[in-house]
Amino acid sequence: MFNLAQKLLLKLPPEIAHDMAISGLRFFGNLPGSMGPYTSRKKTLFGCEFANPIGLAAGLDKDAKAVAGLARLGFGFVEVGTVTPRAQPGNPQPRLFRLPEHRALINRMGFNNQGVMAMAQRLSKLRARDQLAGTIIGVNLGKNKDTPLADAANDYTACMKHLHALADYFTLNLSSPNTPGLRQLQHGAELSELLNRVKEMQQQLAFGGAVTPLLLKVAPDLDDEGIERIADQLVTHEVEGLIATNTTLDRALVAGHPLGGEAGGLSGEPLTVASRTVVQKFRRILPKELPIIGVGGIGSVEDAQNLLDAGADLLQIYTSFIYQGPDIVRSLTRSLY
Ligand SMILES: Cc1cc2nc3c(=O)[nH]c(=O)nc-3n(C[C@H](O)[C@H](O)[C@H](O)COP(=O)(O)O)c2cc1C
Repeated sequence: MFNLAQKLLLKLPPEIAHDMAISGLRFFGNLPGSMGPYTSRKKTLFGCEFANPIGLAAGLDKDAKAVAGLARLGFGFVEVGTVTPRAQPGNPQPRLFRLPEHRALINRMGFNNQGVMAMAQRLSKLRARDQLAGTIIGVNLGKNKDTPLADAANDYTACMKHLHALADYFTLNLSSPNTPGLRQLQHGAELSELLNRVKEMQQQLAFGGAVTPLLLKVAPDLDDEGIERIADQLVTHEVEGLIATNTTLDRALVAGHPLGGEAGGLSGEPLTVASRTVVQKFRRILPKELPIIGVGGIGSVEDAQNLLDAGADLLQIYTSFIYQGPDIVRSLTRSLY
């Protein structure tokens, strides 16, 4: 059933297909019965118990509309968002492009989402009905497009306030290429100031109890010096984990494709090596106990294994899920050692 639906969806324009998939998964999540994550290579990281190491990356379910359905597909964890404090429309359409010859996507969605209050309502209903059956839920946080960069920390802390009792972990997204200036927050004094503020909020919200872990999601387009500085800051500020990587601006591997010049972030197969290299570099310099979630161009068991070998503790997928459907979740969870 899923295979047929997914083949049909790939024949439709990408954003229509996306909306239909979210509606279908929403329906699937409301069917009676309980199905949870596949269990394989269980592990506990930053206080969360993962039934398996395969997660859905941020950006597919930006508003947490289809979490229960996604959880039923067997993912060990599902990351929703990016959510911003206020609803915003994102960039004008078309803003999502398929490059099937490369098993890739280019997107410049621009954090289209219904805002933090709508997400909080949906997640509280799910938690109240206990519909998540052991799937870990991360929430990916961003800033509104019209919030000045100097005030970005206010947006991240505002989202934390509304969601801290509902998320198993938070991701600070500083690496989307589609919000002007956002990637600057990955560097220098801006990063240090932002981490100070969000860590302070994390402590306040915990009231002395367990904190909601904070992870930082970085771009693949970082040079060695950038990687070293971020690693330093992660340790200094006691950030609980790293997600590497977001989409790339590099178009070398899709040069010549009719859609290769579209603005936005490139994901899928052309990202495989770049993400693995970034994971490897961070793993070499970060303390062993600081977890890394590897993401970018995992399209096969071999890609997944390579990223684990490069030092990732958990993995996420997005583009291969679009091209291969739910089968890839099963094949990855069943085949990893
Ligand atoms: C259409 C689309 C939308 C995305 N939106 C987000 C987002 O809102 N926040 C985010 O952190 N990453 C977002 N991403 C990036 C993915 O989470 C992931 O990091 C990236 O696509 C690399 O993984 P992949 O090669 O498996 O797709 C998006 C990716 C795609 C293709």
